[in-house]
Amino acid sequence: MCYLRTTHICNMPIIDVGTYQVHVGDCWAPLNQLIASRPQGKLLVIVDGNTRRHCLPLLRQKLERRDLTIISVPAGESFKHIDTCTRIWQQMLDAGADRSSLVINLGGGVIGDMGGFCAATFKRGMDFVQVPTTLLSQVDASIGGKLGVDFGALKNGIGLFCNPLGVFIEPAFLLSLSPRELRSGYAEVIKHSLIADAAQWERLRRFTNLDQVNWSELLTPSLLIKQQIVSADPFEKGARKALNFGHTIGHAAEGLALQSLDPLLHGEAVAVGMICETWLSHRLLGLPSDQLNDISSYLVRLYKPKPLDKNDFPAYLELIAQDKKNEGDEWLFSLIHPLGRAVINQPVSPQLIVESMAYFNQLIS
Ligand code: GLY
Repeated sequence: MCYLRTTHICNMPIIDVGTYQVHVGDCWAPLNQLIASRPQGKLLVIVDGNTRRHCLPLLRQKLERRDLTIISVPAGESFKHIDTCTRIWQQMLDAGADRSSLVINLGGGVIGDMGGFCAATFKRGMDFVQVPTTLLSQVDASIGGKLGVDFGALKNGIGLFCNPLGVFIEPAFLLSLSPRELRSGYAEVIKHSLIADAAQWERLRRFTNLDQVNWSELLTPSLLIKQQIVSADPFEKGARKALNFGHTIGHAAEGLALQSLDPLLHGEAVAVGMICETWLSHRLLGLPSDQLNDISSYLVRLYKPKPLDKNDFPAYLELIAQDKKNEGDEWLFSLIHPLGRAVINQPVSPQLIVESMAYFNQLIS
């Protein structure tokens, strides 16, 4: 892959992802320039309850334009569905938005995916930019143009690919996050190392106390991995499936937990998925058992996951049967072997999936 086109300004990079750029730090001048280049259009900002309170004041302070239309939705994955989109589209209509408007998605993965989806479909498409505010969305969700909403328990079941005009990453937003939110985002950082950078994994596994991690230092290595993968395969025909490592079982865990009284954050579910899928990588591809043990015990120590209810295993399998990577009757996973390299399109039987979940349960018992 040869898409490493990166410029540095004040040690903060600008990363090219095909048609748009990701600005890390020093992001306000380029965002203001972009907005100034389209003075006629309305400027809409989609926020949730958290980003309205913790991030909108900084955005207002940094933006040169003052006439913002704020569209606010409730926070949380449980609101990432079509009913919330209806409310967003209605507010866009009420604000007189049209194709000359620009939408700023100010939030985490839910706001980025859902706000982008609403923008990309309103009047057949308005331009939008991503201003991700969580670690998870800064290293992963805001890059690559995946937009959409959940469909019942089917995570991101409805959506499309459509790129933003730019991604503007302000590391200072990370200061507003709880330790739980940061830990959740860190799961995607770990994933990037396991699928693409074994040396980075060796560094990460030494972080046992996340209070001492300098999060903004972890952004660029992860972003470069994501950039290379999505630039090579923007529509997930092949190589991009690597990014789904941990997500096949992880999405099922997240989808089921969403309907319970004890929802999981995305990264927490991905951590569970990575443990199960590392076991599958060991069992099916021969990932050495010491690496399986290292990865699993690190994730267990950090995320302290709860056991998976055996009575839910059939429901897990039903959700996995609907996974977007599947082809025909084959359930296809993205696994790892050797550590630091993903192996896509690996068929896995329902029986082995259940065994991987049993391994997970036995590990944490
Ligand atoms: N988060 C996975 C992807 O962007 O493909």
